[in-house]
Amino acid sequence: MIRLCLSVAVLGLMLTTRALAAPSSSVAWTTETVALIRSGNPVTGKQLSYGCAGCHGTEGLGVSPAYPHIAGQDAFYLFKQLQDFKDGSRDNPQMTGIVASLSERDMADIAAYYAAMQGAAPVRGSSHSAVVDLVSRGQGSRMIPACSGCHGTGGKGNSGYYGMPVLAGQKAVYISIALRQYRAGDRANDVYSVMRAIAENLTDNEITVLGKYYATQDPRQ
Ligand code: HEC
Ligand code: HEC
Repeated sequence: MIRLCLSVAVLGLMLTTRALAAPSSSVAWTTETVALIRSGNPVTGKQLSYGCAGCHGTEGLGVSPAYPHIAGQDAFYLFKQLQDFKDGSRDNPQMTGIVASLSERDMADIAAYYAAMQGAAPVRGSSHSAVVDLVSRGQGSRMIPACSGCHGTGGKGNSGYYGMPVLAGQKAVYISIALRQYRAGDRANDVYSVMRAIAENLTDNEITVLGKYYATQDPRQ
């Protein structure tokens, strides 16, 4: 009996340690993965993407506020998200089933297809200087780094950082959903918790205005 209790305890400990040590993503930017994504074939990607149009549109533009635009998105970022949805690192019931049968090669082809499409036209609107300041300078006292340091000026992306998403022109509602998910820890596929650590310090109002700010930025300029 003692032995049984002990093994149950050890098992529990192992599972806890495993859960704590679980990596946020299984995608590593190895030479092979980078080469695979660079060799993605957009023509095959197009053939594989018919099932995506119902939600992401025929032009890669999300058809409802919670469906993100994926046209013009960074190919490395797209590949990583598809892989993360497939292995459960990123949890979304609508995406999980869709990606289940995709191979890594398929994902690289799909990523090449959407990355080459034109990004969304920005929505109209002006931004308050406080959000521009937050985006371009951050706020050191609250441990919030400048968003543009990683996501590029106006959120246009950053090819020097593998897997960095373009935020410019993205739907405001979707961006706010993503930031809330990071803040609550419901989205945890960001390596080194980079976005969870930042979102933790954002207020509800900041999350809303950040979404609106990026939606007004033009990804195509
Ligand atoms: C039934 C609707 C639906 C279909 C069909 C669908 N998606 Fe999605 N997709 C979503 C939703 C909703 C999200 C946002 C998930 C979230 O909030 O975490 C999403 C997110 C994504 C993302 C992450 C975008 C980002 O900015 O992080 C990618 C990439 C993506 N989908 C690609 C695809 C591809 C490729 C297909 C087809 C093979 C597809 N989707 C089919 C609904 C759908
Ligand atoms: C240290 C670099 C870094 C900084 C600074 C940073 N981000 Fe991020 N952000 C990332 C990375 C990396 C990802 C992709 C995580 C993943 O793989 O899912 C990301 C993802 C996101 C996403 C999800 C995009 C999508 O399509 O789902 C949003 C929204 C976002 N960041 C907003 C912000 C905002 C707003 C700020 C400033 C307050 C900010 N980020 C600052 C690195 C950064």
